[in-house]
Amino acid sequence: MAGLIEKVGVVGAGTMGNGIAQTFATAGAKVQLVDVDPVALERGLANVRGSLERFVKKGSMPQADADSTLGRLKSSTRLEDLANCELVVEAVVERADVKAKVFRALDGITPKSAILATNTSSISITQIAASTKRPAQVIGMHFMNPVPLMKLVEVIRGQETSPETTERTVACATALGKVPVEASDYPGFVSNRVLMPMINEAVYCLMEGVATKEGIDTVMKLGMNHPMGPLALADLIGLDVCLDILNVLHEGLGDDKYRPCPLLRRMVAAGRLGRKVQRGFYDYQ
Ligand code: CAA
Repeated sequence: MAGLIEKVGVVGAGTMGNGIAQTFATAGAKVQLVDVDPVALERGLANVRGSLERFVKKGSMPQADADSTLGRLKSSTRLEDLANCELVVEAVVERADVKAKVFRALDGITPKSAILATNTSSISITQIAASTKRPAQVIGMHFMNPVPLMKLVEVIRGQETSPETTERTVACATALGKVPVEASDYPGFVSNRVLMPMINEAVYCLMEGVATKEGIDTVMKLGMNHPMGPLALADLIGLDVCLDILNVLHEGLGDDKYRPCPLLRRMVAAGRLGRKVQRGFYDYQ
């Protein structure tokens, strides 16, 4: 497929990482999925198998394609196994210090020509790029959850990202069957700058007793034709992730309209992080 980068590494086998690895492998790339935690790696691979099974079951993918996708997907706990990748997409935890460490290591391991992309949802691409000696080849490639289904990839240019890196990344996202949209490196880019205030406002409505959680979600589903309500969506994204992103928007843009709702903070403090722990605004057991 024109534009597809053929040897791809994905770092982090969590919700986003395993979906990204699956998407590249389905498009025909050879993918090395790396996670330092073998348990997370196994869980990630199980998710990929489960997702492919769903596609086969509903007839949108032949069994042979699901098998060849799995055949192109290798896993490992060592970053060194990314030594011949032309593109690495990082999808580790949303912490600037952890991402900087991963990018420093990738800079030393991958070929000089490789593009290093981050799936960060709000951390500055420019800041991540500064931890490498190749900031012109560092870019944001922000996928949406669930990755195999969602069409959008936000492509974010850092301060030093070269036009060539942007062009190759856009072409690669298109070859994956996605629709890339270019954005500049400002807090939350476009997606989360628009989405998170909506989710935050829904949590304020719940906190102030404007309506029940079901009521708030139904208003947005039936009134605005959203596929799911904002509180159910927050559970899908992860309440801790929503809180982290709101903090980045609040600090980075310096405007109180982004301050996280106290109820969101309380939910996170209580460990109600959403679907990944089977409890958030809703219970999933
Ligand atoms: N792999 C394969 N198939 C999947 C899947 C997966 N991971 N997840 C769901 N599906 C399939 C289901 O099998 C189902 O198939 P059928 O219709 O053939 O039965 C279909 O998708 C629909 O799933 P559901 O019936 O479970 O539920 P749904 O109709 O509500 O669709 C949804 C699910 C696609 C997630 C939809 O609700 C939706 O689009 N929600 C909004 C998602 C969204 O906004 N994502 C962006 C979040 S923001 C983000 O990710 C970025 C960030 O930085 C925070």
